[in-house]
Order: sequence, then C-alpha cells, then structure tokens
Amino acid sequence: MSRPPGPFPVDPAAARPVFAPADSPSFRNALARVPAAVVVVATDGPAGAGGFTATAFTSVSDDPPTILVCLNRKSAQNETFRNNGVFSVNMLAAEDQAIANDFAGFTKLPAPERFRAGDWTRGITGAPMLLRARVSLDCELVDINPVATHNVMIGRVIGLTIEPPVADRPEVLLYHDRRYREI
Ligand SMILES: Cc1cc2nc3c(=O)[nH]c(=O)nc-3n(C[C@H](O)[C@H](O)[C@H](O)COP(=O)(O)O)c2cc1C
Repeated sequence: MSRPPGPFPVDPAAARPVFAPADSPSFRNALARVPAAVVVVATDGPAGAGGFTATAFTSVSDDPPTILVCLNRKSAQNETFRNNGVFSVNMLAAEDQAIANDFAGFTKLPAPERFRAGDWTRGITGAPMLLRARVSLDCELVDINPVATHNVMIGRVIGLTIEPPVADRPEVLLYHDRRYREI
C-alpha cells in the first residue's frame, strides 16, 4: 500500500512487513504479546453464582469510577450477569493460578462450583469478593454492549479493596505469550 510522505524519515532498509494484514489469527498473535493482569469476574444474586477468568478488563473513567470487562457471547453466563446486575473484578495474586484455571473452565467445574478455591466474602453490592485478590472492585452492572463476539459489560465501581504491596516475591499473576507469568 503506498502512503503519503509523513513527518518522519522512512528508512528503505527497514523494509519488513510492518503493516501485516489484520485477520483473526494475526490479531490473536499480536494480542498474545501484550501482558495482561489475570482477573476473575464473579457474580451472585437471584440468577445464581458464576464467574470466569478474564484478561479483557480495563478502566474506563475515574468519575464516576467505571470499568469494562468483555464476556464471550457464547457463554451461558451472560444471562447470569445480566440478571444479577452486580459483579466483582478480582486481580489474582501470583500464587493463584489454580483459581484462574478453575474459572477458565480448565477443570470442568460448573460455574457455581468454581468458588471452591479461595476464601470469598461479599461486597457492598452483594457480589462475591475474593479475599486473597491483590485488588477487588465491587461493581454495579450499568450497561451491556454487544461488540463482535463479545458483550462489553460496563461496571460502576461502588467499593474496592487493595492489598498492600509485597516485597521480595512475585505479587501479581499475568498472562503473556499464552502462559502465566508472575511479577
Ligand atoms: C488467561 C485467560 C484469559 C481469559 N480472558 C477472557 C476474557 O477476557 N473474556 C472471556 O469471555 N473469556 C476469557 N477467557 C475464557 C474464559 O475464562 C472461559 O471461557 C470460561 O470457561 C468462561 O466460563 P463459561 O464458559 O463456563 O461461561 C480467558 C481464559 C484465560 C485462561
């Protein structure tokens, strides 16, 4: 693809395919290189308990405190989250890979049984909050926007917990290059 000259020098020697066409596999390979915190998104209420492991989580605004998390529309849990109207986002500690595996479905547990590992309490909204999480956000579900394959769930953060930093050992569980890492 030819491009207009830009406000920067173009080095003809650097002729690698910088602009590879983006399709689903190349996109997945690119995003696999982006380190992300591993969170468990959990809910409870009239529709029952549920939760899933996620990396598609980010801040939206601090006024009012607002986050988003993306849930695949194939998951039967979409209705659980919609009907409960509350959820938490729990950033896992480095040692909690087993909890990540349970909530990712790797251990084949039905969603309500994924809470067997870890100690849980309830936030102000009634959402389950993981006691060992490094950070937990207690959210009201204020909007759900379907985008491509996923539902973007918007959460208004009502309460939160923060664990103090730990020295001299890994603190947080990340996902990078299709495997867990600890920092
Ligand atoms: C590291 C990691 C990150 C994940 N991130 C997401 C995510 O952001 N959104 C999502 O919908 N599923 C994500 N998944 C997959 C879900 O955790 C998995 O599909 C889970 O089983 C959903 O529960 P359900 O299928 O019983 O509803 C991730 C899995 C792993 C291991």
